[in-house]
Amino acid sequence: MERHSQDRVEQTGQPRRRGMLSRLLTLGTLALMALLVLAGCGPDIEPPYSHISPESPSTEAIQDLYKLVFWLSLVVFVGVQFAVVYIAMRYRRKASITKRPPQIHGSRRLEIAWTIIPAIVLLLLLIPTITLLYEGDAAAEEGDIVIDVYGKQWWWEFQYREDANQDGQSLGVVTGNEITVPVGRELQLNLQTNNVIHSFWIPRLSGKLDLIPGHVNTLSITPTEVGEYYGECGEFCGIQHAWMRFTINVVPEDEFYAWVNNWRTSPPTTVRGEATDQVVKAPDAFAVCLGCHRVNGVEGSVAPQGIEAPRFIGPNLTMLPCRETLAAGMLENTPENLAIWLNDPGAVKPGNYMADAIQPDTLTDEQIAELVEYLYSLEPEGGCTSAEGWTDPSVASEAAPVPGS
Ligand code: HEC
Repeated sequence: MERHSQDRVEQTGQPRRRGMLSRLLTLGTLALMALLVLAGCGPDIEPPYSHISPESPSTEAIQDLYKLVFWLSLVVFVGVQFAVVYIAMRYRRKASITKRPPQIHGSRRLEIAWTIIPAIVLLLLLIPTITLLYEGDAAAEEGDIVIDVYGKQWWWEFQYREDANQDGQSLGVVTGNEITVPVGRELQLNLQTNNVIHSFWIPRLSGKLDLIPGHVNTLSITPTEVGEYYGECGEFCGIQHAWMRFTINVVPEDEFYAWVNNWRTSPPTTVRGEATDQVVKAPDAFAVCLGCHRVNGVEGSVAPQGIEAPRFIGPNLTMLPCRETLAAGMLENTPENLAIWLNDPGAVKPGNYMADAIQPDTLTDEQIAELVEYLYSLEPEGGCTSAEGWTDPSVASEAAPVPGS
């Protein structure tokens, strides 16, 4: 046996050493690649879906956990690399030694060490993780403003319920795909669905939480900075899962109540009747839309909403001009795009349920033009969140009709 291994050493001799230049080249290339990768992590870059630029206490806590994982991994990484390099250098085969070193099997001390060290590392991660999970659950049970969130195929419905500033009265606002919320207030989001499983995720404001049929999950978010944040469905939910996006506009409190007030004081509107001084007339063709959509203030606006709504029922279109996008992030909200959507929604977003009713030949060009004009007239006079329209919220709640009550 000994002779055999000796022969092999003699046969192969020392392995050929690579030239210094070639090594430097490899190292240089690797360093350049690492630099390029690190350059992508610059502090100025804040991609809208980035979860490493948190703007709420819960995402900051998650970020702290990431940092702990990072530093612990770094210590382990450096330790292991150091040990590998040290052992390789200290025990490398020398030309003068031709014998095999003594072979050992098993070492109790080593076994104990490499069981205990990882166990300690895992424990250091487990304790703060579980603490954070429980804290998140406890916070989710309360909130200044309660919003019911419904995951649809493939868009989101938001119904504003209790507001602590209004003695727990319902705000009554219902929106699709875009919400406006006040900065610094705690939101309690009740996540629910009547179709498939979705996942609610605003990377900069919250962790992911599933919407599961037959069960309500609650999530608490307190946005700390005014701004526009983006969310999306985080779990595959069907053909248009990728276009199930939403936006959260975090605004100062007075702008928020202006927005609520604007929503609730939408003008009384008739579809079948005649226009009067007090009543606006919507185009006749809008009657077909009301089978699936609601607009606050419109008579006969009866489409069910929330958990009751069948899968083909669509978003509430009150204040549509105030939205940035159409069809859950697919199209920029412009009159041209709205006309394209109304002409053939199935071509824009294949598989969406509006296309069950609205085919390319359903509406004439004239009807589309009328509908676009009408829907774009749904912008409040003072602007979408202009504080001009602001009245004291308690007064507004009495003055404005609250749908569904
Ligand atoms: C069969 C039900 C149904 C009918 C009828 C219908 N829609 Fe829709 N509509 C939907 C659904 C469902 C969506 C959501 C599609 C998606 O994003 O996946 C939608 C989306 C929309 C949107 C985009 C809204 C948003 O929040 O992005 C607009 C605008 C719209 N519909 C206008 C109309 C108009 C105007 C009519 C009448 C001509 C109409 N719809 C008729 C079901 C319907």
